[in-house]
Amino acid sequence: MSQPIEIKKGIYWVGVVDWTVRSFHGHTYSTPRGTTYNAYLIVDDKIALVDTVFAAFGSEMMAKIRGIVDPAKIDYVIANHVETDHSGALPQLLKLCPKAKVFGTQKCQEGLYKYYYCDLNFQIVKTGDTLKLGKRTLTFIEAPMVHWPDSMFTYCREEELLLPNDAFGQHYASSQRFNDQVDNCELMDEAKKYYANILWPLGSMISRKIEEVLKLNLPVSMIAPSHGIIWRKDPLEIVKAYQGWARQETVAKVIVVYETMWNSTQKMARLITDELIAGGLEVKLYDVNNADRTDIFKEMLDAKGFLFGSSTHDNNMLPNLAGFLALLKGFKAKGRVAGVFGSYGWAAGAVKEIEELLKAAGIEVAVNSCSAKFVPDDKESADCLRFAADFAAKVK
Ligand code: FEO
Repeated sequence: MSQPIEIKKGIYWVGVVDWTVRSFHGHTYSTPRGTTYNAYLIVDDKIALVDTVFAAFGSEMMAKIRGIVDPAKIDYVIANHVETDHSGALPQLLKLCPKAKVFGTQKCQEGLYKYYYCDLNFQIVKTGDTLKLGKRTLTFIEAPMVHWPDSMFTYCREEELLLPNDAFGQHYASSQRFNDQVDNCELMDEAKKYYANILWPLGSMISRKIEEVLKLNLPVSMIAPSHGIIWRKDPLEIVKAYQGWARQETVAKVIVVYETMWNSTQKMARLITDELIAGGLEVKLYDVNNADRTDIFKEMLDAKGFLFGSSTHDNNMLPNLAGFLALLKGFKAKGRVAGVFGSYGWAAGAVKEIEELLKAAGIEVAVNSCSAKFVPDDKESADCLRFAADFAAKVK
């Protein structure tokens, strides 16, 4: 079992490292580096626990707390978020400290009741409400849709410590707890993947919340999220990254994603990719059947151009690309350009279907689509190169 870590004088990480979890959110998110569920114990005249962990790891969190204080002495539990990876161990904990008062938003109270069907000693809080612990005071900041309606941040001015729950997190298991102890490229890559797959559709609300918090001019020397590594070296680095992602800033990069039946669409994808590269663009090419969907979305987060290809089957696109595009639709990507290509036998139904789906998703189809019957011949191969050149002009 990992040990509690004192992150500030009298404030302890009492979370859990989940080294082996490989998927999250019902298999919508791959976690090849595992994750952590972070809970924080604040020991002052009053003792507060900020968030808990998945129920299955409750005894490990409890053992860490016991190494610092008797859990029965916990006065307050701050429930920043109702989702079970942070509230799962709450019922177990409250059996040990039944008088503890739980603090959270109204939506959190409603959600906790619907998850656990027990009446809690609960106090609803709103932005600006405070809770005095002794030398320290906690301030609550509602953060609806960052990333659920109930979400909330907790801030401790005396320690310049922001506890934003899921915001600024990463699914990243490590023996280290702080960003200056791990590979920064690896960490930022996981933070980007987390943003792309969990927060992308919520950019406008995230922008507003960040602006609102920055306007308060609160000193922040540490951001301790509920997943992964704690930001203590230049903690605003991750805030700036979020601002760029929330504004949907892009670079001249093209992500090509295809699904192929007898390799003709794959042949087209390779021709197009090579031509884009020859034109000086950064390109990433994925066969949706053997790539990690979560990683593709991470790469798409800052890419200006998306290209999608599918063979036609029963006048439709192939099913795994269809599933991928259904998820993409929910992300509400803005400021992108897209193009479509694919092979067919007797009618190019896949290309038409993808075009319609992109339009419904609000993504501009910026060039005429490119098709090839059965196997691309010389003319159709040349069409692929022209398609790539036209698309490159739209991305640059
Ligand atoms: Fe929204 Fe980490 O749960």
